[in-house]
Amino acid sequence: MAKLINGKEIAEQVKLETRDRAQALREKGIEVTLAVVQVGQDPASCVYVRNKKKACEVCGILSKSIELPEETTMDELMQVVRDLNEDPSVNGILVQLPLPAHLDESAVIRAIDPKKDVDGFHPESVGKLSLGLPGFESCTPAGVIQLLKRSGVVCEGKECVIVGRSNIVGKPMGMMMLRENATVTIAHSRTQNLKEVCRRADILIIAIGKARFITADYIKPGAVVIDCGINRDENGKLCGDTDFDQVSAVADAITPVPGGVGPMTVAMLMKNCVDSAEL
Ligand code: GUN
Repeated sequence: MAKLINGKEIAEQVKLETRDRAQALREKGIEVTLAVVQVGQDPASCVYVRNKKKACEVCGILSKSIELPEETTMDELMQVVRDLNEDPSVNGILVQLPLPAHLDESAVIRAIDPKKDVDGFHPESVGKLSLGLPGFESCTPAGVIQLLKRSGVVCEGKECVIVGRSNIVGKPMGMMMLRENATVTIAHSRTQNLKEVCRRADILIIAIGKARFITADYIKPGAVVIDCGINRDENGKLCGDTDFDQVSAVADAITPVPGGVGPMTVAMLMKNCVDSAEL
């Protein structure tokens, strides 16, 4: 039976460290403030935004909530972002995605001041990560790195297979695992022989958004399996991209869903806000 990598516990550690740093800033008269912009009321986004605000409270970070109606125009949203860019009391700006279909997500992300880009989605942040320069990093893959490091998983020289090539998780995950000196393969929906590719992995990281897609036959015995998926199964139960019961019988260590990668994403966002304020 695989060892459980407890994301909830490790996220608590990261949040406590962050809270101490926010406290130290407060003693110097600096309040760390995150602006959270939500357009419309997508139910999943409402849950995520609520979790982020709750984490802000735990960490002693002020959250400034900007809730806009579904019909908000591009001009209106861009003005909100520009105002937050100019607001010296705001350290971090987060525009919750997905945006309603009539809004241009990429243009909105580009409008965020890179110095306040705590999501790490701005092209400048992504470019810095690719070049190995310091900058804001996408929270989910950064959280995975912390999970691995704080669980004592050595990445150097290991075969790492990432399944999924999204801008938010798969691609930045590849860059971060390269930085950790892993040998990196990024597989995706068009990869041939996906099972065989996955079975090469010492560290398998999955971010595809398909409930329980990865079964035991994708796993090399003794592998470390990191599941970035958050899905609902046919009964409405929260589950990851891996079949946890099957995979945990073959793997050496595995993250659960819930309680694995999810809490780390929020914790790393808090860390990025304090990083921003310190800079
Ligand atoms: N939607 C799903 N995940 C994220 C995230 O990490 N940041 C933002 N802004 N939106 C999201």
